[in-house]
Amino acid sequence: MAQDVTTQSRRKFLQFLAASPLCGAFAGLNPADAAAELAASPADAIDIFDLELTASGKIPVAHWGYLATGVNDDSTLRANRTAFEKYFVRSLRLQDVLDVDSSVEILGTRWPTPIVMAPVGSQKAFHADGELGSARAAKSRNHLQMLSTVSSTSIEEVTAAREAPLWFQLYTMGGWQGIRARLRRAEAAGSPVVVLTVDNVPGGDRHTLARAVRKDSRDCSVCHEGSGVAARTKPMAGGGTDERFGVTWEFLDRLQQETTMKVFVKGIVTAEDAERCVEQGVDGIIVSNHGGRGDDSGRGTIDSLAEIAPVVRGRTTLMMDSGIRRGNDIFKAIALGADAVLVGRPYIWGLGAFGQAGVERALDILTNELRVAMQSFGTRTIADIGRSNIQIG
Ligand SMILES: Cc1cc2nc3c(=O)[nH]c(=O)nc-3n(C[C@H](O)[C@H](O)[C@H](O)COP(=O)(O)O)c2cc1C
Repeated sequence: MAQDVTTQSRRKFLQFLAASPLCGAFAGLNPADAAAELAASPADAIDIFDLELTASGKIPVAHWGYLATGVNDDSTLRANRTAFEKYFVRSLRLQDVLDVDSSVEILGTRWPTPIVMAPVGSQKAFHADGELGSARAAKSRNHLQMLSTVSSTSIEEVTAAREAPLWFQLYTMGGWQGIRARLRRAEAAGSPVVVLTVDNVPGGDRHTLARAVRKDSRDCSVCHEGSGVAARTKPMAGGGTDERFGVTWEFLDRLQQETTMKVFVKGIVTAEDAERCVEQGVDGIIVSNHGGRGDDSGRGTIDSLAEIAPVVRGRTTLMMDSGIRRGNDIFKAIALGADAVLVGRPYIWGLGAFGQAGVERALDILTNELRVAMQSFGTRTIADIGRSNIQIG
């Protein structure tokens, strides 16, 4: 009973917080998702936004700011959502969709869905389960998981929890020495793919984060010695030298020579860069603007995908992320030419709300919504979803 009262007052407080302009300033809650309700258990969450609201009350405010933030006033973050509204689905009728098959093959491996867990750094900042909780959820639901260079836990431990290889995302701190050491560890852990992130994240223009940090009364210096230093103390980010260089086409070439892993490039947003990636023989492209955290282009990545897919024409694996929140969004991305999509915040909201069980719930929600979308739009398999399913409004 006492717990009920506590839960109720917490719910009331969070609903007040979610509705208040104060929260909008730093929580990143989308007014369009104002219908969201707190979830008392994973099963309580009806959609991804219930997990977002629930996580917003459990994650310390500065860490929430780090998760929610975009660049400047978050206009690109918002564009990642609103851009989907330009694309309408053309539904086909009289199709046999009693049993839909949402599986996809990626580089010779079949996965039950095209939903991939994006590399998100520092996951212990959101829940004590951290990357290990995400890995156990990825295992129980059989999703492809990518691990960030700035993960809270090493690739060896996360691979052991996943009981299968991860794809490793690469940042370049520590010069070639640091990069080489990182690549050798990922290769030894069995990672088949290294994902080179090429959208620069300067970090200085994240106003939502800066405002949230001011509202956090804890002593941040206990864990953070300074932003650059903090990254280098992460288990996959340390070592190497102070050597600095640009992440350029020449760098990409050198990386391709250096590693036995396949190389994906994450952060491409234009057709000309995608064409160059294909010419340079990359194994995959991830159309991404880092969830609106990289540059402030004001452009949603679904628009970038619509530009890029006709140029790539199946010559390399094509994935997309930033703004995927519903099964319909996944359907639209596949229809516009993506082979798979990545989600970042959605599964982290699950993690922040309920640890591993919340990540599982987030993955289940998106998978179920995708399957319902496939049934309602008349496409039995992922291969049946194509450009003719979309009208641009
Ligand atoms: C808190 C946070 C940390 C992230 N860390 C990384 C990272 O370490 N490496 C990387 O390539 N992308 C990182 N990303 C970007 C994600 O991989 C992905 O591109 C993005 O979250 C997708 O957008 P979404 O959050 O709207 O789904 C991060 C995103 C967030 C929200």
